[in-house]
Amino acid sequence: MTTAARSTYSATAQIFHWLTAIVVVIAFAYGLGGSEQRVYLPSRDFERQLHETLGMAVLLLTALRLAWKLFDQRPAPLDIPRWMERASGVAQALLYLLLFAVPVSAMVGAWLEGHDVTLLAGIVFTSPLASAHDLGVRISELHTWLGDAILWVAGAHALAAIYHHAILNDGTLVSMLPAGIARRLPGRR
Ligand code: HEM
Repeated sequence: MTTAARSTYSATAQIFHWLTAIVVVIAFAYGLGGSEQRVYLPSRDFERQLHETLGMAVLLLTALRLAWKLFDQRPAPLDIPRWMERASGVAQALLYLLLFAVPVSAMVGAWLEGHDVTLLAGIVFTSPLASAHDLGVRISELHTWLGDAILWVAGAHALAAIYHHAILNDGTLVSMLPAGIARRLPGRR
């Protein structure tokens, strides 16, 4: 890029970030617990379709966000220690990995178990895979673990952002906030 480096993420990058965070938390809150028989009870169709719709929205948002990143300009790097920069890079890479792995493991698990993935508008993704039920059950279980893991990693990422703002006051959190909100935050330089 030849243009002058900016100090915050673009409005589009901020929208992708906060929308993804909100949809992940709601998808988690509507996570389906219990055995396969319980998850696929007809009485739970709405709950399951809501969870699957939110989860597929996360997958779509993540794919669009990564495509957008190819064209977007990142803010100028902050003046922080190298280890902190590395740790932040690792956490971000892990989050992107989970943003794909959580929905993909759910889809593959459901398909191998022999279930369609059905969204709220009646959009049905039928399985392109041959049924392998036991493997599907294991992958669905992996999905529930990864679904918990993404909340832990996102929680650590949020705490780190708060630490950057409250203790280091270095502009990390502010770079991902709309100007109107950033202005109202206490402790900003
Ligand atoms: C980022 C998105 C997602 C998150 C955070 C998430 C989170 C979770 C969590 C935490 C559970 C376990 C709930 C519990 O044990 O109480 C769960 C279960 C489940 N999720 Fe997701 N999920 C996501 C996306 C999806 C998608 C895209 C689908 C479908 C394509 C899906 C289908 C399911 C199913 C079928 C179960 C029950 C698994 C079983 O035990 O058979 N999820 N999810």
